[in-house]
Formats: sequence, structure tokens, C-alpha cells
Amino acid sequence: MAQQDDLLKKVISHSKEYGFVFPSSEIYDGLSAAYDYGQLGVELKNNIKEYWWTAMVKMQENIVGLDASIFMHPTTWKASGHVDAFNDPLIDNKDSKKRYRADVLIEDHIAKIDAKIQKDVDKAAKRFGDAFDEAEFRSTNPNVTRRQGEIDQIEARFKKAMDDEDLADVKALIEDLGIACPESGSKNWTDVRQFNLMFKTELGAVSGDSGVIYLRPETAQGIFVNFLNVQKSGRMKVPFGIAQIGKAFRNEIIARQFIFRMREFEQMEMQFFVKPGTQMQWYEYWKDFRIKWHQALGIPAENYKFHDHLKLAHYADAASDIEFNFPMGFKELEGIHSRTDFDLARHEEFSGKKLQYFDPEENRSYVPYVIETSIGLDRMFLAVLSSSYTEEQVDEKSERTVLRIPPCLAPVKVAVLPLLKKDGLPEKAREILKSLQAEFYCQYDEKDAIGRRYRRQDAIGTPYCITIDHDTLEDGMVTIRERDTMTQERVKIEEVASIVRGRVKYPVA
Ligand code: GAP
Repeated sequence: MAQQDDLLKKVISHSKEYGFVFPSSEIYDGLSAAYDYGQLGVELKNNIKEYWWTAMVKMQENIVGLDASIFMHPTTWKASGHVDAFNDPLIDNKDSKKRYRADVLIEDHIAKIDAKIQKDVDKAAKRFGDAFDEAEFRSTNPNVTRRQGEIDQIEARFKKAMDDEDLADVKALIEDLGIACPESGSKNWTDVRQFNLMFKTELGAVSGDSGVIYLRPETAQGIFVNFLNVQKSGRMKVPFGIAQIGKAFRNEIIARQFIFRMREFEQMEMQFFVKPGTQMQWYEYWKDFRIKWHQALGIPAENYKFHDHLKLAHYADAASDIEFNFPMGFKELEGIHSRTDFDLARHEEFSGKKLQYFDPEENRSYVPYVIETSIGLDRMFLAVLSSSYTEEQVDEKSERTVLRIPPCLAPVKVAVLPLLKKDGLPEKAREILKSLQAEFYCQYDEKDAIGRRYRRQDAIGTPYCITIDHDTLEDGMVTIRERDTMTQERVKIEEVASIVRGRVKYPVA
């Protein structure tokens, strides 16, 4: 774990040093859980968006895009259930005045018990070597089974208390488990209460409840309310999808772990409208498609796993997360949900407008069912950055920090480097730079020794460096250096674009 914490710290400081991510309004000591994407961060973010848009819209015959506004009619959020049910259970410590999510306190307590189990498992694995049977050990070792029983009991009691909306029992559980405030060690807790995660603001000059509107907590509702607009104007036939990339806002109680959990973040969501009864087949289709989209990037497959939900939200008939091995462990990166006809039916009910599709093959109208794929852009950014951060020994004397970012997502694709700042080399280099810039984001660098310039490009993940030397002026050839292998090759200037193009194009999922 220490190593993993270390990785997160390194990624955070590397991000700042090289212009990927800065704390927001840092000159005023920052704002908790708000971040700004710097000059390279914005490029990486745009490339992730483009990879998603290419796969989800441009390469799909039956999916189109949308850019709905962040502010929506407030009834939208009544209909969607967010006003009444988009809550986190909160508890305050009376001594430290710190506020916590009750479920997170309980989860952290469980994680501590789980860590003890893991310690026993690791010890036994070491002792028994190849003969070790982990499943057998977990089901028979008295310490492990006792602790597992404890976890099961806590989870069952917590689930029941939440299902019954019995917040008094959630508090009692925290007290019974002897959970103390992580800051102060005090066990002096307030009652647990529900806290709505939507940010409220007021529309124009209207004050009071009638003017209250919300910053959208998900982009999905903008798609649902436009379902018929898009279907009719685009003459779309079910099954079809609407995709959107945009900001979402949640007043997270504990926003932490860098850009993993923020109060302002971006989502890339697609709602796929299908004939009722076919939703399970499409749910499986999109699960398969989305995991392939991730894996096509070449990030090792063992970093991803599905987590199928056992407890489903009231509107879903199936749901699964794609979890990624972040520096903090496996956590949700993307959700794939079969949302039934809940959203459209609720918007029909609250708006009094029909949101139905006339199916010419069936000669009847129905409210389509929906499969949703929803990925956090910032989480994807963290996944790419943390899995590509590598420190390695180059030779006996030197080491380098390299971001092995999938080349199609790398912020800078080509660095153009004249070997010397004289003899016409900068002029030739700038000529080559110009020929590449329309297609690739490039950097020009003539400062310092060539080795140092290579290191700077490694540190920001540039897949190719092109060096222009005296021979270039004679033979029209340059040295092209590849980031991961550090191999260098002499190639004709005219070949550079096609070499780079071949490596940086978006893979097909
Ligand atoms: N429309 C469905 C929906 O919003 P969600 O699981 O609440 O579902 C979808 O969110 C994705 O949005 C998550 O998988 C995660 O990647 C991202 N996300 C959610 N809350 C976030 C936050 N506070 N900060 C960053 N990303 C977040």
C-alpha cells in the first residue's frame, strides 16, 4: 500500500511539474477537490475525448452526439429522482467538527478487518509456497473465518439500515464498532442525516424556492429530455444511441484522491435506446464493447475488472462497473447500466408529454428501454497517467522518468530537435516542424544537450523525437527516436509523418 500511496504522490507532483494538472486557484491556497488542467493536461484530456467520440459516435451508424446545457428545468431532477434520493448519509464529529460519510467510515472499518485477513493469507502463502490453496485457507482458518463473519455481519446490518432508511441504526453501528474520528480519535458523534449532493443556485433575479435550479449531477438527463428531438430530427430507428461529453457537479462530502473524486468533473455518457425485452442482449453487447475500448489502448489487461452489482438501483435491472487498478487499488472507472424505461417514463409522467417511439416493424408505440455507458473523463485521465508513470534505469549511470502513455493519447506526438543552435540546423528543424504541425501536436526544443532534451520528452510521454544534424542538410535524413525502446533510426524526412501516423492513430475497439 505504501508503494501505491507513493505512486499517487509521484503522479500528483509530476502532473504539476510538467503542466498536466494544477490545484485550482493555487495562489489563494487552492480549493479543495477542484483542479485545473494545464497545457499538457488539456491535450491529454482532448485526446481521451476524441478517442471516446471516435469509437462511440464517428464509427457508429446509429449513435449521434449531443451537447445539452448544464442548467435544466428543475422538474428534470424531480423526475429523475435526484431531488429526493441523490443523498449521502453524513455524520459529524462533535469534538473535531469534521464531517464524514457514514458509509465511508464503515467501509474503512471493514477494510481494516480485510487487511488483517489479507495479512494472514499472505503469511500462509509464504509458508506453504506452491502447495498453498487460498480458497481452502480462507474457508477453514479460524482467524480468517471469524473476521470474515464479522465483515458479513457489519455489511448485512448496514445494508438493512440503509434499505429501511433507519439512520439511527447507522449511527448505532458506528458506535458499536467503536469507530473513532480519524482526525481526533474522538467517538463523540452527531446523528446521521441525509445530505443531497446537488449544487443549488438561483436563476436570474428570481429568489426563493421558485428560482432554485441545480448544476446537473450527471449528463444523462440532458439526453433523456432530448430523446424525441433527436429521434425525430435525425430520423433515428431503435436501437439507436445519443452520446454526450460534458461537465457534471456533485457536492461530494469527501472529495479526495486527487482527480478521482471531484466536485466538478466531466462525464462521457451514451444512452442506447432499445426495444423492451432486448435490453439484456444490448447490456452484454455494451459491456463487451466498452472493455474492448479500454483494452485496445494496450494498458495491461490485468488492470481492469468487472464488478457486477448485486444490489441494484431502483431503476436498473442490471449494472456493472469497469474497475481500474488505480494507485489506491481497484476502483470504479466506468458504469454500464441497464436503466429499463425508468427515466423516459418518469419524464413522461412529470412533463405530461409522450416520449414514445413508433416502431414501424411492430406497428406500435412504446417507451424504449435504455442501456447506459458512463465514464468519468478525469478518472480515465488518472488511469492513463498512473499506469504510464515509470521510473527506470537507463544504464549504470542514468535513470529516467517516462510516461508510457498510449501513443494515440500522448499530448505531444513529435518533438523536433536541432542538434545545435547554429549552422542552419534550427531553420531546417523549423521547416520540418511546420510540415508536421497541421497533423500532429509538436514541440520544438533547441535548449540543452540532446540527452536532456530526450529526458524532458520522456517525462511528458512524447512517442517520437526527431533530431536534425549536419548530415540532414546533406542527405535529407533525420534521426527518429522512439520513446519506449529508445531506439534510434535514420529515416528520410518525407517518411517521418507516415511513421508517426501509423503509431498514433486511434485503435478500433
Ligand atoms: N449517469 C450515470 C452516472 O452518473 P455514476 O456512477 O454516478 O453514474 C458515472 O457516474 C461515472 O462518473 C463514474 O463511473 C465515474 O467515472 C464518474 N464520476 C462520478 N462521480 C465522480 C466524481 N465525484 N469525480 C470524478 N468522477 C466521477
